[in-house]
Amino acid sequence: MSFDLVLFGGTGDLTWRKLMPALFQAFRHGSLPKEGRIVGVGREAMSDAQYRELIRSRFDSVELAKRPTGDEFERFAALLHYLRMDLSEPADYQQLASLLQARQAGTVVMYLATAPALFTGICENMAAVGLNGPQTRVVLEKPLGHDLASNRAINEAVLRVLPEKQIFRIDHYLGKPSVQNLFALRFGNSLFEPLWRRETIANIQITIAEELGVEKRGAFYDSTGALRDMVQNHALQLLCAIGMEPPINSHADAIRDEKLKVLRSLKAWTPETLKQHVIRGQYAAGNIDGEPVKGYLQETGVNPESRTETFVALRAEIANWRWAGVPFYIRTGKRLADRDAHIEVNFRPTPHAIFKSPQGAGNRLVINLQPKDGLELHLLAQGQDNRQGARTASQTLAPVQLDLDFDKRFGTERVGAYERLLLDVIDGRLNLFVRSDEQEEAWRWVEPVLDAWKHDAVGPRPYTAGTWGPSASSAMIARDNHWWSEES
Ligand code: BG6
Repeated sequence: MSFDLVLFGGTGDLTWRKLMPALFQAFRHGSLPKEGRIVGVGREAMSDAQYRELIRSRFDSVELAKRPTGDEFERFAALLHYLRMDLSEPADYQQLASLLQARQAGTVVMYLATAPALFTGICENMAAVGLNGPQTRVVLEKPLGHDLASNRAINEAVLRVLPEKQIFRIDHYLGKPSVQNLFALRFGNSLFEPLWRRETIANIQITIAEELGVEKRGAFYDSTGALRDMVQNHALQLLCAIGMEPPINSHADAIRDEKLKVLRSLKAWTPETLKQHVIRGQYAAGNIDGEPVKGYLQETGVNPESRTETFVALRAEIANWRWAGVPFYIRTGKRLADRDAHIEVNFRPTPHAIFKSPQGAGNRLVINLQPKDGLELHLLAQGQDNRQGARTASQTLAPVQLDLDFDKRFGTERVGAYERLLLDVIDGRLNLFVRSDEQEEAWRWVEPVLDAWKHDAVGPRPYTAGTWGPSASSAMIARDNHWWSEES
């Protein structure tokens, strides 16, 4: 099947950091459909040869294993083309139309890797020159707006020119192999389903911790913050994957219908829960891996008096029959003690204890997303007491662990998130993309938190870089008699 992939923002950060390396991996794996053309669009005047040279030089900063050899790049570069466009200039879209119409590819993907403020204009201009036919698919990168109203405005504008089934809203967490494995764990196995409910589960914790700070994105991040950057999208999508009912089949809308129901069931905020169940923090100077690092307020591009949060911990509840009363804790932040994303399912203790067990030990299922990718099942077993003179098995149970490492098992076959998602767009598979109603529902749920922060004189709590965030986050969950995983 032939395709044209047009990258708006073709010289930008996302293109060379994520998209080109992912496209090259797909090319190297032989999974990129043969008759392909990739057209980078940018403001600067450049020939195809200059564009290829620019992309080649950018590959030098890509990790070694993902870098093409000279010969590989030569073959990959044959797919790359460049078009200079002023995205606010309707006449320039005519040029794009001529370029695309000359070839009549079976699929035309328009990847909008630009500032979201440009999305509406690009879609309208595309439609004005007839580039919104049935073979067109539009990919929208996050952030899609900064609140419910702006998200709706973008969705409405795009939906005026293309139907929902041609719109691919990316949340790259859904493309991670570990997240697809979570769906496989839940809906491809019968073992856990009977236990996946309030009667057996005490609480669920979702942690997305980063060691990195805001890097070169200080100005963008300062107007965004962790709630918009990570919770509204990635963390809530993980919560949906954990909390949703089994879909009736594996079609995109069956899956998205169930995720939407979870978002609609999230317990609405009250003034009380807004005070008690949300903690925001901001990193101060500290150490990461033994190296001193700046505080957030000293980062380039950040307002020195900024109140933007770099950490959020919150307690959510899914108000339905399966989950009523079970806390779902979400925690995410920059400059934390480790790079670690995982979901921890904590089971209730036995109803009646006949053994002694160590404080806090219980059954836990840990779904490791990154850097490890796998499952750990924590159980209690009867260890043998080896002290001199001891003859009988100890009456105190010891924690033991079943470990499944997906990287070891599937290592060479694993496909990265952007590679998976780009191939899905080209093939027209929507399963791992977010529908407009899901996205709006997620904004609806986080918006009261944003509003409450606007009127809160206190601001985010400082935490030292290299720690697990403000201590108030531990205190919040300790009130329920629970502990974050690294504290248990
Ligand atoms: C992005 C956020 O969506 O996800 C970044 O904008 C964040 O701030 C990144 O660093 C995390 O993604 P990953 O795949 O590195 O966990």
